[in-house]
Amino acid sequence: MEEELLRLKSEALAKLASISQVGELEDFRVKYLGRKGLFTGLMRSLGTVSTEDRPRVGKLANDVKQEVESEFLIRQGSKEGSGQALQQKVVTDLSLPGRALPLGRLHPVTQIMEEVCAIFEGLGFEVAEGPDVEVDFYNFEALNIPKHHPARDMHDTFYVSDSVLLRTHTSPMQVRAMEKRQPPLRMIAPGKVYRCDSDITHTPMFHQVEGFLVDRKVSFADLKGILSIFIARIFDEHTSIRFRPSYFPFTEPSAEVDIACVMCGGKGCRVCKQTGWLEILGAGLIDPEVFKKIGYDPEEYSGFAFGLGIERIAMLKYGINDIRLYYENDLRFLSQF
Ligand code: PHE
Repeated sequence: MEEELLRLKSEALAKLASISQVGELEDFRVKYLGRKGLFTGLMRSLGTVSTEDRPRVGKLANDVKQEVESEFLIRQGSKEGSGQALQQKVVTDLSLPGRALPLGRLHPVTQIMEEVCAIFEGLGFEVAEGPDVEVDFYNFEALNIPKHHPARDMHDTFYVSDSVLLRTHTSPMQVRAMEKRQPPLRMIAPGKVYRCDSDITHTPMFHQVEGFLVDRKVSFADLKGILSIFIARIFDEHTSIRFRPSYFPFTEPSAEVDIACVMCGGKGCRVCKQTGWLEILGAGLIDPEVFKKIGYDPEEYSGFAFGLGIERIAMLKYGINDIRLYYENDLRFLSQF
């Protein structure tokens, strides 16, 4: 019996080592380890061994079976779920291309913001930044927009308290700068602004760049000159522009500046609502009332100011038709810029 056990053990282990297909493992299990298998058969005949030898032979039978079983499990584990031949070599294919690391890039709004600032810096404007959380005085009062002025309607915003709010435009920076310094001033103020607005052309937060210049004898011609250069650089030098009379409480006279529609070239289409023109910024000569509020003499100084929306310029430059795309964080959109 003991001899038979040892012979079966070496037969089973040799067989196991020679197996090369997954299917053969199952055959092996049935033949040796199954309920009607060879080992089970041998163990059943333990009853024929003398009582005196039985503990020793019984233990040997258990050990042998366990050894074969664990060898079987190891073989099975290493090939689980694979229909491929056993003992296949793992080959490293050195000719495969490396894995590309995804590259980050600047958000389109950041790109245009930097471009706009660079153009004005090139024209001698200095860059100043101010707080997003602003007080009523700088956002409205000092800009000639008293309480109950109808212009406040277009600037509905988020209030922290009655007199503290998220700024609705970058124009408060005109006042903050003039309050601290004396002319000549030539500055731009880029930053985030907030309004209670949300549709395909408005988001509750967007970016503006404010620009202003204060000195002696500044005229509307200076404003036209600077803005013409800016538009030629940010779009292209053949872009037609027009100044259309408008109203802002803090500029007089005021204008809105349009460019020939970038989609149809001025012929008229859905984007420009058949007018051939697209509004890109608001501007004007700084109202003497604003100068008086901060203590500049309006007889001595004059100046111009303008404010433009960055998202809008980026939409026109890149032909984007929904402003909300900027803030959905969809990499398929963002990675195009
Ligand atoms: N602050 C104005 C707005 O946000 C734009 C503007 C700025 C107009 C400066 C004139 C002068 O609508």
